[in-house]
Amino acid sequence: MKANELRNKFLSFFKEKGHAIIPSASVIPENDPTVLFTTAGMHPLVPYLMGSKHPEGTRLTNVQKCIRTGDIDEVGDTTHCTFFEMLGNWSLGDYFKEEAIAFSWEFLTSEKWLNLPKEKLYFTVFEGDGDAPRDMESYDHWLSHGVDEDHIFFLPKEHNWWGPAGTTGPCGPDTEMFIDTGKEKCDSHCNPSCSCGKYVEIWNDVFMEYNKTADGKYEPLSQKNVDTGMGLERTIAVLQGVDSVYDTDLYQGVMEKIGELADRKYEEDEDTIRAFRIVADHIRTATLILGDEKGVTPSNVDQGYVLRRLIRRAIRFGLQIGIPEGNTPEIAQVVIDEYSLMYPELNKKAEFIKRELALEEERFQRTIKQGLREFDKLISRLGSEAKVIDGPNAFRLYDTFGFPIEFTQELALENGYEIDIEGFEESFRKHQEISSAGAAQRFKGGLADNTEETANLHTATHLLQAALRQTLGEEVEQKGSNITAERLRFDFSFSRKVTKDELNIVEGLVNDIIDQDLEVVCEEMSLEDAQEVGAIGLFESKYGNIVKVYSVGDFSKELCGGPHADRTGQLGRFKIKKEESSSAGVRRIKAVLING
Ligand code: ALA
Repeated sequence: MKANELRNKFLSFFKEKGHAIIPSASVIPENDPTVLFTTAGMHPLVPYLMGSKHPEGTRLTNVQKCIRTGDIDEVGDTTHCTFFEMLGNWSLGDYFKEEAIAFSWEFLTSEKWLNLPKEKLYFTVFEGDGDAPRDMESYDHWLSHGVDEDHIFFLPKEHNWWGPAGTTGPCGPDTEMFIDTGKEKCDSHCNPSCSCGKYVEIWNDVFMEYNKTADGKYEPLSQKNVDTGMGLERTIAVLQGVDSVYDTDLYQGVMEKIGELADRKYEEDEDTIRAFRIVADHIRTATLILGDEKGVTPSNVDQGYVLRRLIRRAIRFGLQIGIPEGNTPEIAQVVIDEYSLMYPELNKKAEFIKRELALEEERFQRTIKQGLREFDKLISRLGSEAKVIDGPNAFRLYDTFGFPIEFTQELALENGYEIDIEGFEESFRKHQEISSAGAAQRFKGGLADNTEETANLHTATHLLQAALRQTLGEEVEQKGSNITAERLRFDFSFSRKVTKDELNIVEGLVNDIIDQDLEVVCEEMSLEDAQEVGAIGLFESKYGNIVKVYSVGDFSKELCGGPHADRTGQLGRFKIKKEESSSAGVRRIKAVLING
């Protein structure tokens, strides 16, 4: 079975079971500063898991583009990918464990669908703890389908619990489905929780019935949801009977292109295999990020930094296997050709993707030169007596100049030095601790955060956009928005600085609407009707056919997923704190609500 057939089968199966097919959301989370990338299918659906009504109903199915770069250094093994697609079905307060498990069982085992041999399937369920009971229900449902008791394992939270996406929000116990690859058990205790590779997880049914609160408590959600995730790459590897995701049809074209450019064979040796996989994975992910409608480009912050790292790492490993400079756009073209069917935005942005890759290659070449000069200076500073380059210096070359440690090691060796690898790793760990502290900070606020402050700021953002358009004209269009519980940030197209007087008018208009205490009305309608009534917002396929339009009197009418305030009177005082340039032709406003 080809990957595309699996995608289609999954969606058709759930469509037959009454699910609406919804498009993949962007890989950059909407209005959500809590995470850099969409890491799971649940992410864009958090408001609906929390009780907001989804315009397409209570049963949904989708293929979501996901990015996880936490394990970037593991890429090159058989399973890790920084980009993957997650097939999912959703019950938003509709069916629960019994039907979810029955659907999974039928899809996996029925002749009409995946037709997997029942005896090769294994399952895990939540063993229970102080927060939630042992999941005997799921266990009994699996038994009722004829699963043997010794194919079901009870495991703790660390294995059988999913979410929240940030530090707070929807979560719950899960039941996971594994396939036995037929490999030898690694020891007598080997079971699906073991990472030896005998059992491969292919699907996860999460029963989201809890909301984790900021003080670490698990409260029942207003509705019981099901969130399932089947990783396309891994599952297709199992179905195609290959050991690694890189040997599936999903990667075939890219691997061939890399082989052609490097003029060598993938299987040559272990280092070559790893380098091929890294180049393929990183260019695929970079292409999907650049091709996303949000238009992220390489930079030193946030998503742009991750993108830069992926591209530079791909270039470095490409050089190692002999891919000449300047070829990343050619590899990206293969990804574009293969993925445009699923994600048509890639085709539209093909030139942009390739141009950005070429520019980043040029920049990296310059940085490499600077880094080499830095290295020479370091050597002369250390003098010929020293034999070791310490950890902090090696780390600086890695961090500031993008020098891989292997690269620095080689250079050091040529000059008669060694690298203090332990020292390097210590510096690396310290840096990671600092960045994950930074990452933890990000999890405050965002879509999982349904607090009143956030809802008020969402509404204030709509009022701000309407006021800007009224004052500055329709050239103003939203380019981005980022809301935390403390402030809003709004990026919009406008060709010059907004004057102080204009900002005062905008602020006054918003505060007028607040003083009128107008109701915030939410209506569901078709995309065409929304256009007809003059709603503004991103009219893109990702919203599906039925959309939510939020209106405030005649002042504002905008497409949005929410959450929002009920009335404008709740908002308090609106205050613009800053107006600045964000990028060419794009201005940025930061604003707050006082006593909201
Ligand atoms: N959200 C669940 C996962 O990513 C389905 O595994």
